[in-house]
Amino acid sequence: MRIAVFSAKPYDESTFRAANDQLDKPHDLQFLATPLDAGTAVLAQDFDAVCAFVNDDIGAETVAALDDLGVGLVLMRCAGFNNVDVGAATQAGLSIGRVPAYSPHAVAEHTIGLLLALNRRLHRAYNRVREGNFALDGLMGFDIHGKTVGVVGTGRIGICVARILGGFGCRVLAHDPQPAQEARDAGAHYVPLEELLAECDIVTLHCPLTPKTHHLIDADALSSMRDGAFLVNTSRGGLVDTRAVIGALKSGRLGGLAIDVYEEEDDLFFENLSGQVLQDDVFARLLTFPNVFVTGHQAFFTAEALDAIARTTLANATAHEAHGAPEHPVTEEMVA
Ligand code: NAI
Repeated sequence: MRIAVFSAKPYDESTFRAANDQLDKPHDLQFLATPLDAGTAVLAQDFDAVCAFVNDDIGAETVAALDDLGVGLVLMRCAGFNNVDVGAATQAGLSIGRVPAYSPHAVAEHTIGLLLALNRRLHRAYNRVREGNFALDGLMGFDIHGKTVGVVGTGRIGICVARILGGFGCRVLAHDPQPAQEARDAGAHYVPLEELLAECDIVTLHCPLTPKTHHLIDADALSSMRDGAFLVNTSRGGLVDTRAVIGALKSGRLGGLAIDVYEEEDDLFFENLSGQVLQDDVFARLLTFPNVFVTGHQAFFTAEALDAIARTTLANATAHEAHGAPEHPVTEEMVA
């Protein structure tokens, strides 16, 4: 199968080539640095499939353009598919594949890393020590042990997070419309979202971004959280109303924010913009807070995860070639 891999970075190319070389029948891979959207879809001419990532735009217009070119398969090399118009793709007869699980541990571990760094101000400590400043003022954190932590979304990643938090000696509350026994086994107690927000010292988000979960954490939700609570988001930026969060940080109501995702990250993340003027004023404001810790969508970024992503994506392509459907399809029911 001829596959155009969009938004490809050198690490994508090396892991995909390594996984492809191990297949009995390797695919023909072309790596394009260009992001996929309605304007760039034309680059997929003569390809059977496109492979896309989290910030590519596979909306209705892109779907129509791909359909016109005869592309029959969209291979998402990620778990989320909020950037795909699944209805339009289904109507056009385009199959969509994804990688439902590659390393929930990678994301869970990064989540805890963000929480620890934010709490103990490791980002500030790192800079201070390098400048010979060993003063501790402003670096005080709290014991995570004994705190109540809310896990919103107890799928693969949320369960891993709950397990790690259990090891820290936290009381774990969870919210998910589909409770999981594994989360209960990890010591989590399911409660309604309102109760979780009201009771937790730390809230961490692990549910998908859907029309229902868009701005799940808005001004109302923030006002029902405990005074000085921490919010951690390694799921999708759109779960959080960033402007409302800035308000809550300014008032001191929110005690800290650690994020790996941002609702307008498409124009920022995965690129080196260090020589440019930041155009996003909301994001720029976020970076001014001493109690905000941001990473640029790197929670998934481990060697194990990249290897699994490449293997599963190529297996989706192979299955589609053999049986007309990817091994891990995205269907309209999954969006409803
Ligand atoms: P999953 O599909 O295993 O679990 C998601 C869980 O969220 C499910 O149990 C579902 O019932 C629950 N959920 C749905 N709506 C909810 C709601 N309104 N409130 C509470 N829970 C709700 O997904 P997985 O693998 O755990 O991933 C979670 C999210 O993490 C993905 O959707 C993706 O957006 C994000 N992610 C971020 C990465 C990063 O690098 N920052 C990497 C991989 C995933």
